[in-house]
Amino acid sequence: VPLQGCNTFGIAARAHTLVRVRAPQDVQDVLADPLLARSPKFVLGGGSNIVLTGDVEPLVLKMEIRGMRLLEETDRGWIVEAGAGEAWHDAVAWTLAHGWPGLENLALIPGTVGAAPVQNIGAYGVELQDRFHSLRAVDLDTGATFELDASQCAFGYRDSVFKHRSPAAGGFGLAGRAIITHVRFWLSKDWRPELGYLDLEKKREESGIQQPSAQQIFEWVCEVRRAKLPDPAVVGNAGSFFKNPTVTPEQCQDIIAREPKVVHYVLPDGRFKLAAGWLIDACGWRGKSVGKAGVYDRQALVLVNRGTPEASVTGGEVMTLARAIQTSVYERFGIRLEPEPVVV
Ligand code: EPU
Repeated sequence: VPLQGCNTFGIAARAHTLVRVRAPQDVQDVLADPLLARSPKFVLGGGSNIVLTGDVEPLVLKMEIRGMRLLEETDRGWIVEAGAGEAWHDAVAWTLAHGWPGLENLALIPGTVGAAPVQNIGAYGVELQDRFHSLRAVDLDTGATFELDASQCAFGYRDSVFKHRSPAAGGFGLAGRAIITHVRFWLSKDWRPELGYLDLEKKREESGIQQPSAQQIFEWVCEVRRAKLPDPAVVGNAGSFFKNPTVTPEQCQDIIAREPKVVHYVLPDGRFKLAAGWLIDACGWRGKSVGKAGVYDRQALVLVNRGTPEASVTGGEVMTLARAIQTSVYERFGIRLEPEPVVV
């Protein structure tokens, strides 16, 4: 089965076997199938956070469970449930259209609802974990359905229990072990606009709007993203390719002494986060290419596919470029950049 249309990088790779999951029962059917039950499994959502470096040997479970509903309304807020196969952006738009604010800063993030908790998506001062209620999933070893609340998901910066190896592979996480079927959001009636991010602050100043609605913020976020980030439907990419690194105050001072312009933010625990895009840009990578893998010219943190659908970039080329970037950032700043997408 060709996967080129199933990953936003547009990398041409194939799956040996692919099963579309349109209801939780489809997972049970796979687990009851003597041929499929025991094979290793790989859950695919919108394919917006993966780099395929070859054909996918494990059984691909393509998440296509749909549906959006209000689960509960209390005097404090709304609990909304979305099928894991819904497009993330459509789910955001749907909640806002119903008058339930809270997800607006996360507008236009590519991918599916089910992928959102895996990497704890975040943008413009809001992370999924800030609006998360719980999720439902199926255990791929036993077929049992289970629920996890936020603490059980162990959310971190672009991280969760779903990004770590399962006990079977010697880890503590649920990677390869669970398939998320539904995600529930907690949207508080005590809504306040989140405008701390510089790009949104600028929008507020330009527009003169002092008290923007959630819908207004949604539109600003869409405008900012469209101006900075490539549309995967036009230029293949997987969003930010590296995480923003965290350093100690001493390391940060050391870098500032050498590079006074380095973009940095202080974290609640006193450590500092550096803008990886700035570091890569400072090394001269913005707009460069290696083979068919390129560095986006408006945001150096985003690697792009400069091939054509007939001759697309390969995952190998993307990883070669990524390693070259890691090497030059390490040599110049002594910082190791960690890839953000899952390399398959
Ligand atoms: N910068 C440069 N040159 C560049 C790129 C960035 O100097 O080529 C500077 C910018 O001028 C800015 C700073 O670096 O001062 C940060 O850039 P930006 O505001 O674009 O945000 P980011 O830190 O690069 C993160 C997330 C994005 C998210 C934005 C907005 C990560 C890895 N990335 O990017 O998330 O949309 O903030 O909140 O945390 C993603 O995860 O795929 C993603 C796109």
